Amino acid sequence: MNTVKLHDKEFGVFISCDEIAQAVNKLAERINADYASKTPLFVAVLNGSFMFASDLMKLIHIPSEITFVKLASYSGTATTGKVNELIGFNESIEGRDVIILEDIVDTGITLEILVNLLQDKKANSIAVATCLFKPKAYTKKRPLEYVGIEVGNEFLVGYGLDYNGRGRNLADIYKIIK
Ligand code: IMP
Ligand code: MG
Repeated sequence: MNTVKLHDKEFGVFISCDEIAQAVNKLAERINADYASKTPLFVAVLNGSFMFASDLMKLIHIPSEITFVKLASYSGTATTGKVNELIGFNESIEGRDVIILEDIVDTGITLEILVNLLQDKKANSIAVATCLFKPKAYTKKRPLEYVGIEVGNEFLVGYGLDYNGRGRNLADIYKIIK
């Protein structure tokens, strides 16, 4: 198996870049169709979503805008349950059809905070597009509109996801081995 070592841990390929590309393609097709008569504002959550956002946006053919925010709730391989940082939101959200772009939705804590924030700013509608989703870890009731690939509770790296800062640049998604 193709493996990579990041800090003290070893990871093996779990989802290939081809599989990711197929999933992203399907999401883009659905968004292009669902928002054909709208001009959505994509809100990409940094750092993790940068690769997903970049690949997806190249396949969006309807009029749209993108902005970036930063919200962090992770330290190492376990959630800290608290959000440490928020940067961004210079544009007016009021009346916009917002599509949040996430690398992965785990417990859903980060997402809930962002959704509440966008509601406070009077977005007309809010949808979520996430590359990966951990349904078994999800603690919230809110359904996710656009899910690329559902995964288990294992810790993943690559395609934007990091282990203590490493691995975001990997084109495939890797799973922890040891
Ligand atoms: P949540 O608030 O628990 O849903 O966590 C969401 C954030 O945690 C994601 O945007 C990622 O940055 C990070 N995260 C969740 N699961 C993983 C993983 O398996 N590997 C790397 N980062 C993860
Ligand atoms: Mg993230």
